Amino acid sequence: PASRPLAGRHVLVTAGPTHEPIDPVRYIANRSSGRQGYAIAEALARLGARTTLVTGPVGLPTPLGVRRIDVETADEMAAAVAAALPADAAVMVAAVADWRVAPAMHKIKKGSGAPTLSLIENPDILAAVSHAVPRPRLVVGFAAETEHVIEHAKAKLLRKGCDWIVANDVSQGVMGGPANQVHLVTRDGVETWPRDAKERVAAGLAERIADALGAES
Ligand code: C5P
Repeated sequence: PASRPLAGRHVLVTAGPTHEPIDPVRYIANRSSGRQGYAIAEALARLGARTTLVTGPVGLPTPLGVRRIDVETADEMAAAVAAALPADAAVMVAAVADWRVAPAMHKIKKGSGAPTLSLIENPDILAAVSHAVPRPRLVVGFAAETEHVIEHAKAKLLRKGCDWIVANDVSQGVMGGPANQVHLVTRDGVETWPRDAKERVAAGLAERIADALGAES
């Protein structure tokens, strides 16, 4: 029916930050609140999708009708995403930490000078999903940039192998805030959407995903 165009589809969403432990009491994180990703999961579920939300640590309630899988690190998120496939569409909203530390088993003590953290690159979950077999029919990535937003998004689309990039300028307090202003970058072009509440951006994106999935099989 027109009100539940995603009925029978499985959609996978990632959201939130990841936490990368330094030792048993410390971690590296980022400013992602999870609000945009949670709103997208909720909007997709409202359109009838069976929705799996793989989420880093955030203080948000589970959206109605969504299956939620909690993870902490990028490695855990990558494993949870792989286990949740196959999906008809994947929307990777999480702000995955680019690097992790080889964590110390014991709390690092003060006193013998500042420690040096050596960083290891994390798996790129969006790129992995874009190359998964079977691949979701639609793979959507996000790009949080502070400059040259559209150029970077176009390059990211090709580099990651995804279908769409939702790009936003995070220099204006978007992270953690209630509103977002995005550009939808596809292989065909760029649409600039008006600044709006994250819930309304999510509803618009969910409708577009429903159109894209409906148009094919
Ligand atoms: O490379 P960058 O972090 O700018 O790409 C952002 C997009 O890639 C987002 O969709 C994010 O969820 C995804 N990503 C990911 N795994 C990573 C890094 C980013 O899925 N390790």
